[in-house]
Amino acid sequence: MSTKHGGGGVQLAGSILSGDLLDLGSAIRLCEQAGADLIQLDVCDGHFVPTISFGEAVVKRTCEATKLPVEVHLMVSRPDDWLSRMAGLGQFRMIFHLEASTRAMGVIQGIERGGWKPGVAINPETPASALEPVLPYLDNVCVMGIAPGFAGQAMLEYTFVKIADIRRLIEKTGSKATITVDGGVKSNNARRLVEAGADILVVSSGMFQHPRPPESLKEIRAACGETPKR
Ligand code: DX5
Repeated sequence: MSTKHGGGGVQLAGSILSGDLLDLGSAIRLCEQAGADLIQLDVCDGHFVPTISFGEAVVKRTCEATKLPVEVHLMVSRPDDWLSRMAGLGQFRMIFHLEASTRAMGVIQGIERGGWKPGVAINPETPASALEPVLPYLDNVCVMGIAPGFAGQAMLEYTFVKIADIRRLIEKTGSKATITVDGGVKSNNARRLVEAGADILVVSSGMFQHPRPPESLKEIRAACGETPKR
């Protein structure tokens, strides 16, 4: 199966949030060993979401420790304030929450000035239509399949409809944005997500809680009708 946007097959992002945070090196190596295409780092500030995860030091060390592309998912209030802290660390994409800013275009421009590709994430209760004004300026839209902040939740059913709505909006606005789905991705829903229009799937507990973690992403690729990467 190939994605509707890129045509090159689904991309899988490993998220280390449900890995052993006392052994981040192993968590990063597992993402590589399992065949992830990229790593997504979840920066949670304890304000936009109730949890606190890690900040710029972990982003820097992760970028140094892996050859995989690294993107940052800012689950923070006031994303503007975080851009200078995130400068020069090595990540290629910066995703912030539409709900966290009253000036999304300004944040997008700040991300571009920082040399990163801009992405916007939306929470389950934010409609696809809220993205329309900014879609032409985005590299990526990250659709939350769960309430953000915690790994290991079941994906909300409405996510599938929302992905299809965003795919239509992308076509309507001529945007080049890819669609990521984050939260609740497992081998039993991956194919439906790609069929709905997703390009990138973020996997955390589906990898770290898998009985054979290195096999987890291969199973997800196979569920999407694709040959394992390695
Ligand atoms: C949740 C994070 C997700 C999380 C997904 O707020 O944004 O990236 O790691 O975890 P799973 O795959 O367990 O739903």
